[in-house]
Amino acid sequence: MQANGATPGAFGLVEGDRTMGERKLGVAIHGVGQVAYAHAASWLKNPHVQIVSVTSRRVDSARRLAERFGLEDCHVGDRYEDVLANPRVDIMNLSGPNHVHAEQGIAAAEAGKHILIEKPMCLSMEENRRLRDAVARAGVKSVVSFVLRWNPLIENLKALLAAGAVGQLFYAEVDYWHGLADWWTGWEWGRTWASGRSTMLTGGCHAVDALRWLCGHEVAEVAAFSNNKKGRFEYDANVVAILKFQNGLIGKTSALFDAEMPYSFNIDLAGTEGTIRDNRVWSKPLFPGQTSWTEMKTILPDSGDVDHHPFDAQMNHLVDCILQDHESHCSIADAYHTHEVCMAIDQSLACGGQPIRLPLE
Ligand SMILES: NC(=O)c1ccc[n+]([C@@H]2O[C@H](COP(=O)([O-])OP(=O)(O)OC[C@H]3O[C@@H](n4cnc5c(N)ncnc54)[C@H](OP(=O)(O)O)[C@@H]3O)[C@@H](O)[C@H]2O)c1
Repeated sequence: MQANGATPGAFGLVEGDRTMGERKLGVAIHGVGQVAYAHAASWLKNPHVQIVSVTSRRVDSARRLAERFGLEDCHVGDRYEDVLANPRVDIMNLSGPNHVHAEQGIAAAEAGKHILIEKPMCLSMEENRRLRDAVARAGVKSVVSFVLRWNPLIENLKALLAAGAVGQLFYAEVDYWHGLADWWTGWEWGRTWASGRSTMLTGGCHAVDALRWLCGHEVAEVAAFSNNKKGRFEYDANVVAILKFQNGLIGKTSALFDAEMPYSFNIDLAGTEGTIRDNRVWSKPLFPGQTSWTEMKTILPDSGDVDHHPFDAQMNHLVDCILQDHESHCSIADAYHTHEVCMAIDQSLACGGQPIRLPLE
């Protein structure tokens, strides 16, 4: 028996709708802005799902997306309660602004829905804990949209690290430099404290998550500094933090919303047997006799455009987790730790760069 009372095998399947002998999982998109269009395009490529509901704060926004993709047999509305009560909905795709994610995620879990939730999934440790616990209680599957985990460079780096290409990591650095301005559809809410909350939660969380994912260890302590050079955000737009991991690894992350340059996601990983700098690899075990960097030709994390993000792979991964009944490496339980690190960095900023130990009380 699953958490929502359905029996395995019948769980999460849309009545009367069959693909390859299976009925499809019903997806509900809630919160329609720019990223929801990229999500919808990816869901439509997966043969095991059907978008059965699109809702947003304004029904016109939901209707526009449904019309853009020619969605048929699909509920369009503005009431989240209707989506929660809709038995055709198996997967809740939460893509509204930051400050609504946690409560909507908790309600989705309590309604027995699997969850695809945009980052940041919460804005406080209290929300972080409640969301994690609600999902654990409900036993639903979840994926948090740390979509860079499916970027081909990062997938390849993860495999290289696992193969011992650089030996034992002792230093790691990942930076998120993304000049945000009013070209962003989310600008009005994203630059506020109430909804955007902080640079680390709104954008830097991608870099913190990549650090955790690539290093494979949890952060034990952070200290951070910030400034707000252009004064366009209600919080400090530029943050740098140093980190110590539980295994002694040291690292750094920065997030710059005031950056004047194309989007950049810098990755530096130094190990006892080699070093990785973005897509350049220096490896004593893999490339003995190497005289220069070996450059990996692949898709890099070098664009903030949501159409560049590997949402296809992320959505496919959640569907696989549901159909094969296994937990995602990028679940809400895992992402709890990424958010905790971001909040520890914000706590350090709030007390003038004081070191903050994790886990947070
Ligand atoms: N993983 C990634 O790489 C990535 C990339 C981009 C964005 N994101 C995240 O995705 C989320 C959305 O970002 P975005 O760029 O798409 O912003 P956006 O364009 O502003 O879209 C958010 C939409 O949510 C709707 N909305 C507002 N209040 C709502 C509520 N209470 N409940 C439901 N919907 C509500 C609004 O539509 P109406 O008011 O018109 O209904 C708005 O258009 C953010 O959390 C952002 O951090 C993640």
